[in-house]
Amino acid sequence: MENKIKRHEFLKSMGLKGAALLAVYCGASSLSSCKNESVSPASSVDFTLDLSNATYSKLNTTGNYVIANGIVIARVSATAFAAVTQVCSHENKANVIYSGGGFYCTQHGATFSITGAGTNANGSRGIQAYKTTLTGTSLRIYA
Ligand code: FES
Repeated sequence: MENKIKRHEFLKSMGLKGAALLAVYCGASSLSSCKNESVSPASSVDFTLDLSNATYSKLNTTGNYVIANGIVIARVSATAFAAVTQVCSHENKANVIYSGGGFYCTQHGATFSITGAGTNANGSRGIQAYKTTLTGTSLRIYA
């Protein structure tokens, strides 16, 4: 449990640094190139989580989520998962979580559907979503 918390804090601090760097970049460029920059690391996303591993086993229960490699992965039903980038499209803060059946940014409250569509004003740009495939206890997250 303690390791898990440290890992989350580590990932969070990494995410915030990444977001801060991105903000600097965005300040000197157009919005469209800013958007491309935030999406580019995402296109190489392809990793697998072992749901029998204690770190990720909470994904065996509907409503839970984990954050791995900057991606928020949620168990949205008995048979389905959803995954989106942790970096919000509103102001590029790495504060997206899963809550109440959708994705939610704790920074200013942007909300997104499980497919990444924006569902309120701050979330109106939507958010990069990823595919998921469960094989046995291996959950693959990929672009
Ligand atoms: S950065 Fe996510 S709502 Fe503003």
